[in-house]
Amino acid sequence: MSGVYFHIPFCKQLCHYCAFHKSISLQAKEEMLECFKKELKYRKDYLGEESVATIYFGGGTPSIYQPHEIESLIDEVAKYFTIDSDAEITLEANPDDLSETYLRALQNTPVNRLSVGIQSFHDEDLILMNRRHTGKEAFEAIRRAQEFGFDNISVDQIYGVPGLSMEKWIENLDLVFELDIQHISSYHLMFDPNTIFTKKLEKGQLVELDEEQSFEQFKYLIDKARENGFHHYEISNFSKEGFISKHNSSYWKQEKYLGIGPSAHSFNLKEREWNIAHNYKYIKAIKEEAEFSEKEHLSFYDRFNDFVLTSLRTYWGMDLETVRKDFGDQLYNHCLAKAEKYIISNHVRQDGNSLILCDEGVFISNDIMSEFFWVEDE
Ligand SMILES: C[S@@+](CC[C@H](N)C(=O)[O-])C[C@H]1O[C@@H](n2cnc3c(N)ncnc32)[C@H](O)[C@@H]1O
Ligand code: SF4
Repeated sequence: MSGVYFHIPFCKQLCHYCAFHKSISLQAKEEMLECFKKELKYRKDYLGEESVATIYFGGGTPSIYQPHEIESLIDEVAKYFTIDSDAEITLEANPDDLSETYLRALQNTPVNRLSVGIQSFHDEDLILMNRRHTGKEAFEAIRRAQEFGFDNISVDQIYGVPGLSMEKWIENLDLVFELDIQHISSYHLMFDPNTIFTKKLEKGQLVELDEEQSFEQFKYLIDKARENGFHHYEISNFSKEGFISKHNSSYWKQEKYLGIGPSAHSFNLKEREWNIAHNYKYIKAIKEEAEFSEKEHLSFYDRFNDFVLTSLRTYWGMDLETVRKDFGDQLYNHCLAKAEKYIISNHVRQDGNSLILCDEGVFISNDIMSEFFWVEDE
């Protein structure tokens, strides 16, 4: 099982919290499509004999392309790879792109999953974030997508945002559950470098929500999600039965994926590779058949650290038998030793052979994972 990811590096407007690679200059939109197709051809052997179980259009804003353009990329994947008949094909979409005309055309493509960036239903939050839509427009866009037959819809939301009171968060969640969708990605706001939010924070123009408030919002989210029939299967991800994102799961389960487009990452079990994060340099390199990516060979300990990072994120946890089998007794004992204090403090629990983060542990998952990482001169 493997996946193909397209990074669509364009947005019509820049959200003030977002550090993903993108440009608001849309000039190269058509040329970029051609380059994606060329890159697919150059890398047709990357996945070996494996068939493609998932295709994911992420960004940036994939819905900046018309449905027939997205379909032409899927057709191009089909030229070089075998796509599974039940493949999950996801399009990340901004709510304001999901017009009737757009959805009608999209319905006739192989796209069978939508991931829509809602962020908040409160207009003052959306203005602060510099989003292109209102809360009402976002709600209506999801309803419209459902009317057009999309029955595998995920929404993105952000909590821990300055000014997001508990009351507002509860209202956001009530509306999400009212929508009766299949999947929720709920992210804790990150102050990423080089974003307007971080600049405002440094200048004192934004005040970070304190940890306790963010934790209260997270706790409420996980309780409410469970009450509403969602399975909390990864730090930020919740799904109804049968709707776990296959694409994201392949990252966490250490499966091969091929990333196409500027800044896209690829993984073939031995090496990680990342494409140049610059639209014009990427286009130039693709056209001239020059280098457009950097590679890193993964050492034994890199692979172990990746395993920690990916398995502890999920609710099936880190399987200790896999650690012993794939990484040996030394790292198995290291995991047991590192787990001890977190088990006592109720941040981690042991379930059979698996180490699993408790709700309190999920909130400090970065600290816990770094303790488990093996530093080579340890
Ligand atoms: C890269 S965006 C692409 C989706 C689409 N362009 C949109 O905005 O609707 C994927 C998601 O990442 C989340 N995200 C981006 N930057 C974030 C940040 N600094 N903190 C938390 N979540 C963030 C947002 O929820 C966003 O919808
Ligand atoms: S959140 Fe989405 S729309 Fe906003 S800047 Fe990031 S990628 Fe673009």
